[in-house]
Amino acid sequence: MPTGSGRTRSAAMLLVIAAAVLAAGCQPQTSLRGPGLDLALPPTEEVETPLVADENDRPIVPDAVHGKQVFDANCAVCHGTDGRGNGPMAPTLVEPQHDVLALVTGLFGITVHRPTVPSKPADFHNRDLESVITPAIMYQTVTNGRAYTAMPAFGPEASFGANKAQTLSNQDRWDANVYEMMFRTTPQALSEGKRIYEAQCAQCHGTNGDGKGPRGPEMAAQLWSWSHGKGPGIFTDINYMVQRNGADLTNAILDGGGPMPSFRGKMSAEQLNDVVDYIYTFFYKHPPIK
Ligand code: HEC
Ligand code: HEC
Repeated sequence: MPTGSGRTRSAAMLLVIAAAVLAAGCQPQTSLRGPGLDLALPPTEEVETPLVADENDRPIVPDAVHGKQVFDANCAVCHGTDGRGNGPMAPTLVEPQHDVLALVTGLFGITVHRPTVPSKPADFHNRDLESVITPAIMYQTVTNGRAYTAMPAFGPEASFGANKAQTLSNQDRWDANVYEMMFRTTPQALSEGKRIYEAQCAQCHGTNGDGKGPRGPEMAAQLWSWSHGKGPGIFTDINYMVQRNGADLTNAILDGGGPMPSFRGKMSAEQLNDVVDYIYTFFYKHPPIK
């Protein structure tokens, strides 16, 4: 990436200037080639805060297998064990009180009665809905709840207007989150995604999604991000992947860009969905895909 190499270059320039200033100031003993001035310092890379982390900011790997237990115990009552939004509590859910008029009149002891508005739990099989939500936003929803809906907060605090449920650990919330990502696909669809991926994508992206396919080094020579094992197209870069929604990934495959070829017209919509859901599986633990 040009910004990356540019940054490294300007860092190198700064070092040269610093070295020159130092050398000028400490005459006559110091030479520019003295030990420690030979640019062997560690590269000045940004330290990323892990987005997927435990309570002590240590990185964790979400686990869909354990996520099923968390989901069945905490979420299925509303979302249903099959994730279709039809759990036993679903028909009774209404928007929590957020009626400003009722609040204000309430201060004066006046009660206004309005019909309650139903709050329908999300159907996780609904692709149109799920493909515009990143895993990071889903996690935020589970953590903070969603204001003015029946979706409760499972994090340590509820956001303004949201209900509070029992607190689940960061790991549990991530686990339920990735389990939920599997409702939009099926084991057969994931196998199909894997087959397409291994035939057409793994040569560059690597069988494990880490960018280490046979043509990986060729890509890394052109892209700063690939040479650092992160960023677009490195599906094991969890920080990056949790910020990409299904539509982003689909468009990247259709459009291509840089060394990435365009696959427009080369795959059916269904095949695209299969491969997108398969790509996501590189960042979390899941049952084996045949
Ligand atoms: C009390 C019922 C209830 C429980 C329990 C519940 N949810 Fe929800 N959830 C809802 C409702 C209602 C919505 C829809 C909110 C809206 O209308 O925007 C929702 C929405 C969501 C969304 C955002 C929509 C989407 O398409 O991704 C996510 C994510 C979610 N729930 C995950 C969970 C998880 C994970 C759990 C368990 C840890 C859980 N929910 C437990 C009622 C519930
Ligand atoms: C010739 C090598 C090559 C092949 C083949 C290839 N890719 Fe890529 N792909 C790349 C490179 C390199 C990038 C990063 C582009 C960049 O940083 O601009 C990339 C980026 C992507 C991205 C963008 C990720 C994002 O978040 O923006 C997706 C998704 C993707 N590839 C999926 C696929 C799929 C699916 C296939 C197979 C159907 C495939 N690629 C085939 C090299 C390849």
